[in-house]
Amino acid sequence: MSQPLETMYLDDVNSALVILDQQLLPTEVKYVPLTTLEQVYHAIHTLQVRGAPAIGVSAAMGLYIHMKDYAQKNAPTSSAFMAEMERAGAYLASSRPTAVNLQWALNELTHAIEINKNRPFLDLVEILRQTAERIMADDMENNRLIGKHGAALLKPGMGILTHCNAGALATAGYGTALAPIYYADENGMDVRVYVDETRPILQGARLTAFELNAAGIDTTLICDNMAATVMAKGWVDAVFVGCDRVAANGDTANKIGTHGVAVLAKHFGIPFYVCAPFSTIDKATATGADILIEQRDPKEVTHMWYTSRVAPDGINVFNPAFDVTPAALIEAFITEKGILKPPFDTKH
Ligand code: MRU
Repeated sequence: MSQPLETMYLDDVNSALVILDQQLLPTEVKYVPLTTLEQVYHAIHTLQVRGAPAIGVSAAMGLYIHMKDYAQKNAPTSSAFMAEMERAGAYLASSRPTAVNLQWALNELTHAIEINKNRPFLDLVEILRQTAERIMADDMENNRLIGKHGAALLKPGMGILTHCNAGALATAGYGTALAPIYYADENGMDVRVYVDETRPILQGARLTAFELNAAGIDTTLICDNMAATVMAKGWVDAVFVGCDRVAANGDTANKIGTHGVAVLAKHFGIPFYVCAPFSTIDKATATGADILIEQRDPKEVTHMWYTSRVAPDGINVFNPAFDVTPAALIEAFITEKGILKPPFDTKH
């Protein structure tokens, strides 16, 4: 699959992280340069760039751009450099709390600086650039491996159901849950994909349908409440979803609605697979109960996709961005290291 649109890229000459504004897709394709820490925070928080691996890459690039600017203006000592990195990293990490990839990517930058802390600040800036670029390149490479491992589970003509967008747009490229579909397609295997629209932000309808269509894959968009119907008809052979954080016991946080799809899949005897880079597995979080679930603006439910408000004024709204699927409902995890089941061995 050739990447239809880049999710983001570094414009180092202009000290900008350039992102594809996913709020505007699929009706408008617009790239937005982000040159300040506040702009990167805002883009992640408002889902202009979203999807766990994509926000990890964006945060890494954003921190690099900020530290380059800070170093040029302040010629800092190494301890001042580290202190500013810590402050700026904590700020970026607070933009979205559930996806562990965000904190993971920032930790990679911190570690790279810690082991080089006695070098001059210009070297430190260069180390940040190289580390951020490496995180981005690794994401692409890992996703291809996820695609290869996942495609081994597929047969020609199979129907796959997916929820939210864990495709190229949610990553540096190629996707996680959509990677096996792209890999199968590249190897001449036709599969059919059912895409949940994914209320309330409609990542399925706006983003997954858009990128699968652009790739020429047989795609059918369904409302979230239609998943049981397509499963009951025997049209779905497997469910592939992405994830934002996997606890040590295998409980998995992903887009709100994923848990319901997993319950349905269990009911219909359909295998439910979670696709993710290994960095999404958070061994420091024991179970799903320990995962912080982001609560979002009620307007996403009451107003956002309507020409006028549909819900009564003053109505209570519960709008969690993610839910946790218990490990017992998950057949396996498809990662770049292969197909795994918890507990995740320390050798991984
Ligand atoms: O709120 P979003 O759009 O960032 O949610 C995205 C998801 O839930 C994805 O499935 C997950 O981040 C994995 S992306 C490869």
